[in-house]
Amino acid sequence: MLIAGWLPLAAGAGAVLAIQAAQTSLTRLVDVSHLVYEHAMWVDDLLAFQERCRALQPRRSGLPAPGTVRIITLDDVTFTYPGKDTPALNGISMTLHAGQTVAFVGVNGSGKSTCARLLAGLYEPQEGGTVTWDGVNVLDLDAESLQARVGCVLQDPVRFPFSALANLTVSRGTLTEADPRRALEAARASGAEQVIAALPGGWEALLSKRFRGGHELSAGQWAKIAVARGLYKNAPVLLLDEPTSSMDPRAEHAVYEAVLRDNPRSDQITVLISHRLASVVSCDRVFVFDGGRVIESGTHQELMNLGGEYAAMFTLQADGYRAEAGETA
Ligand SMILES: Nc1ncnc2c1ncn2[C@@H]1O[C@H](COP(=O)(O)OP(=O)(O)OP(=O)(O)O)[C@@H](O)[C@H]1O
Ligand SMILES: [Mg+2]
Repeated sequence: MLIAGWLPLAAGAGAVLAIQAAQTSLTRLVDVSHLVYEHAMWVDDLLAFQERCRALQPRRSGLPAPGTVRIITLDDVTFTYPGKDTPALNGISMTLHAGQTVAFVGVNGSGKSTCARLLAGLYEPQEGGTVTWDGVNVLDLDAESLQARVGCVLQDPVRFPFSALANLTVSRGTLTEADPRRALEAARASGAEQVIAALPGGWEALLSKRFRGGHELSAGQWAKIAVARGLYKNAPVLLLDEPTSSMDPRAEHAVYEAVLRDNPRSDQITVLISHRLASVVSCDRVFVFDGGRVIESGTHQELMNLGGEYAAMFTLQADGYRAEAGETA
C-alpha cells in the first residue's frame, strides 16, 4: 500500500506500531484469561472445602447435654463410613442404664468401636436410626457439651506432645485449671503414677522426643496415661476401647480392678471393648457384635448358657490358658 502510494509513510509506520501493540495486548489478554480461569478452579475448590468444613463442624446449636445421663438408647442405628459400600453398623438397638458397665465383644471389624462412638454422639446415625440421651435425640444436643460428657480411651490413644500433667488433664479445661490431686488419683488407678514418677521431671516431663529434653514412652505406658486421662475427665459416659491391649498382665489386672470393680459409679455408664473375655465376665451386660449387628446379648452366664458365639469364643480362650497350665503342671 505504501509502494502503491495509497498510504502515506507516517500512517503506514503508525499502523505497524498499532498492530504490534494490539498483538501484545491480545497476548496479555489471553494469558490473563488463562490465569483467571485457572484461579477460578481453585476458588471452586476453596468454596467446596469451606462447605465441607461447615458440614463437619460440631453443632453449635441445640440444648446443652444433661450433666448426668440415666439412659442411652440406640434405636435401629445404621452407619456407613464415607466411600464404603457395606455398613459398619446395620440396625443396632440397645439400651444402657446409668450404673451399668457393658462390654462389646466380637471379631475384628464387627463394628464395636463405631457403635461406641455413635452412642457417645461422636458419629451421627444415618437412615432414620436414632441415639437418645434421656429421651433427647443427640442431634438436638449441642455437640460440644455432649462431647464434654464423654470420657474416651481410644484403641489408639492420642500422644500429645505436652507435659505428663497436661497429657492427663487436657481432656478437661486448660492446664491452669488442672486439678493435680484428681490427676494423681487417676494416675494411681491407671498405673500411670509409676510411669510418671520414673520420668526425670515427673509430672512436668515433656512427653515428646520432638523437643529437647523430651521423653518417649512405650505403647503400654502411653496406654496407662490414656486411661488416666479418661478417668480424670470424670464424665458420665466412659468409653474404654481396648484400653489394656498393650499393657503387661499385672498392669491390665490393676486397671480392671480399679476401673471395673473398685469404682462402680451409680451415675456413670461405662462401655468396655475388649478381646480378653476374662475381663468382661463381671460386666452387667455383654453385647456380641458380628458384621455390624448385635447377634447375642446378656450377662456372661446367660451367654454361656446360650452356647452361641460368645460361649465358643470364651471357651476357646479359656482352653488356651488351661492347656498351658496343664503343660506346665
Ligand atoms: N475411619 C474409617 N473409615 C472407613 N471405614 C472404617 C473406619 N473405621 C472403621 N471402618 C470400617 O468399619 C467396620 C467396623 O469397624 P470398627 O472399627 O467399628 O470395628 P471393631 O469391631 O472395633 O474392630 P476391632 O476389633 O478390629 O477394633 C470395618 O469394616 C472397618 O473396615
Ligand atoms: Mg475397634
